[in-house]
Amino acid sequence: MRPFIRTLALATGLAVAPVLAVAPPADAASTLRSLAEAQHRYIGTELTGNMVNNATITSLAGTQFDVVTPGNEMKWDTIEPGNGSYNFGPGDNVVSFAQAHAMRVRGHNLVWHAQLPGWVNSLPRNQVQGAMEAHITTEVNHYKGKIYAWDVINEPFNEDGSLRQDAFTAAMGTGYLADAIRTAHTADPAAVLYINDYNIEGQNAKSNALYSLAQSLLSQGVPLGGIGLESHFIVGQVPSSMLANMQRFAALGLDVAITELDDRVPLPASSGNLQQQATDYATVVKNCLAVTRCPGVSQWGVGDADSWIPGTFPGYGAASMYDNNYRPKPAYTATATALGGPPPGGGGTGPLRAVGAGKCLDVPDSTTTAGTQLQIRDCSGGANQTFTLSSSGALSVYNGADCLDASGRGTSPGTKVIIWPCSGQANQQWAVNADGTVTGVQSGLCLDVTGASTANGTLVELWTCTGRSNQQWTLG
Ligand code: XIL
Repeated sequence: MRPFIRTLALATGLAVAPVLAVAPPADAASTLRSLAEAQHRYIGTELTGNMVNNATITSLAGTQFDVVTPGNEMKWDTIEPGNGSYNFGPGDNVVSFAQAHAMRVRGHNLVWHAQLPGWVNSLPRNQVQGAMEAHITTEVNHYKGKIYAWDVINEPFNEDGSLRQDAFTAAMGTGYLADAIRTAHTADPAAVLYINDYNIEGQNAKSNALYSLAQSLLSQGVPLGGIGLESHFIVGQVPSSMLANMQRFAALGLDVAITELDDRVPLPASSGNLQQQATDYATVVKNCLAVTRCPGVSQWGVGDADSWIPGTFPGYGAASMYDNNYRPKPAYTATATALGGPPPGGGGTGPLRAVGAGKCLDVPDSTTTAGTQLQIRDCSGGANQTFTLSSSGALSVYNGADCLDASGRGTSPGTKVIIWPCSGQANQQWAVNADGTVTGVQSGLCLDVTGASTANGTLVELWTCTGRSNQQWTLG
């Protein structure tokens, strides 16, 4: 495990041994979950496979998120691999993790054409309904009282709005939908029961068909409670009709949740795409906040390293809020800000305190000469120590005249950090992270007090992130 990861795990975990006086715990007020809860929303994440055994992932998930969805562990092929033989162990592990961290669970999913064991497809048609009802009843009963919401039906539609043909439509036609939802409701009347699908985020043929179906089910008294918008987006393509679409479902009296958010970019990810991704995440979060019936937003995976995207959409990835090393990306900062937080790490304007040295980032002699390398110095409150983080990630000084800049667009350790007239370029974009680091968006390197010296006049540069205290900063 790399030192940085270990530090992050400690910083975000609960039990912190009195060693490594680095990386102060993320301010509780700035975690995604506390921000979301203040808005009466949840912020969720997906866990699957070995993720529950990875301390880096679980400490991050348990600190930043308050809802968890098992990625595969509650699907039919895992839960009931043979007719009548059930396997709840993997799903139970996810539930235990959630309970240990006071997180709610979205159950995913009960009836879906995919990850369906072969035996269901091989059944004579007149046995499919009985098998479906038995599966739903047994699974929902097993988790009764532990599941906040169930995706009862997953991905029922084709892109043109026709119903997907599968074992269930073959046996029961459209009627399987109402039957499945009623069966789940009987087993756990307290769970909110969803239909979940992709490419239904905007208004289109598919979401129109779902809207008609929802109206029809509700008019028959079927206990449908919510619509899940999976939200597997491509960078820059969040539909402009998403908010209106959410509002029309909400007007039916349904919850409308973002259930599987990710936002894929072509690899390798450019800084421009990561900035656009941040905008996309913020748009989605704001859409949810604008709709009273939107209970929350869940992303699919914790960090880019666990995402299903590279395996499913070759050439794409970097779709989540955390990078391959679980460092927060611009999408994380944008999400926190959209949730109403101060930017993680402190307020928007003020001194940038070097935690390890107990000093402040300082423009030597209050010069305005472009190219001057920054240093640390005793905190004075002067204009040459007052920095403002803009929503686009610029860190400006002198009322926005000059910006913190990676000299020569350098991306290697040792690159000088200087002042330069604000340009909006990627070498002037910074992420003030919840773990106390300040990272250059272009380089991914950390703002670093050279040699971990604490003396006045020590110069500031970019360096590989180490998790040590000479890379810890607080703004404001
Ligand atoms: C994906 C999982 O993330 C993968 O691990 C698995 O191999 C395939 O399924 N829509 C859904 C999710 O509803 O269940 C899918 O999850 C992603 C698309």
